Amino acid sequence: YKRVTVKSLIEMKQNREKISMLTAYDYSMAKIVDAAKVDVILVGDSASNVMAGHETTLPITLDQMIYHATSVIRAIDRALVVVDLPFGSYQSDPKEALRSAIRIMKESGAHAVKVEGGVEIKESVKRILNAGIPVMGHLGLTPQAIYKFGTYTVRAKEQEEAEKLLEDALLLEKLGCFAIVLEKIPAALTKKVSEKLSIPTIGIGGGRYADGQVLVIHDLLGMTHEFNPRFLRRYMNLYEEMGNAISQYVADVKNLDFPSEEEQY
Ligand code: KIV
Ligand code: NA
Repeated sequence: YKRVTVKSLIEMKQNREKISMLTAYDYSMAKIVDAAKVDVILVGDSASNVMAGHETTLPITLDQMIYHATSVIRAIDRALVVVDLPFGSYQSDPKEALRSAIRIMKESGAHAVKVEGGVEIKESVKRILNAGIPVMGHLGLTPQAIYKFGTYTVRAKEQEEAEKLLEDALLLEKLGCFAIVLEKIPAALTKKVSEKLSIPTIGIGGGRYADGQVLVIHDLLGMTHEFNPRFLRRYMNLYEEMGNAISQYVADVKNLDFPSEEEQY
């Protein structure tokens, strides 16, 4: 795929090609992620945690999401860029939801938005889709509702919650969503949902049966070192490597080792 579109993702599912997705929040990181041929870049509201240092995703604002999205879009040649609608920008009223989605699309140039929840946000999803804006769903562990649950533990382990999740997934598909993130649910449930849907599922802590996988880039690179869920595979230990590099710089400056003769004019 020269340029990934929402159509490409559905084709990938049909061809049984797994979809790769990662977050990015700034230009430099997005350049690297896009060049490595990640299919979908998510400007996640996890920026609230990893970029701004908040405990939850609730505080980040629509303006801040647009700032991140704008920076990411400038870096992209190939990936589909999806932007999270932040907490409070789409739950209260469908018209506000559409206004928020329009602002993201217009001001950042992003390709799609993502929202958390099922039947509760049905009218908002409809409105946004009616305007021609592609919508990605997000079910299971939905961090914007963290205070309702109180913990970040695995979701939908009980039958009742699992049934609701499946119903919500079918509803989102029927409304016209192009994909659904399934966060931290049992692998067996991911399998069932993925088999019942013709649109792709993208898992995070959802096991191997999802049609694609997503991780927070800081977690994959090992920049975050205190977050250790079972689902996380770290491909680097950047926390340590960056720390070592920076300590070396400090030592070189203190020892008058940097800059050297060759490094001056
Ligand atoms: O904000 C985010 O990073 C997300 C992914 C973890 C799916 O929503
Ligand atoms: Na998110």
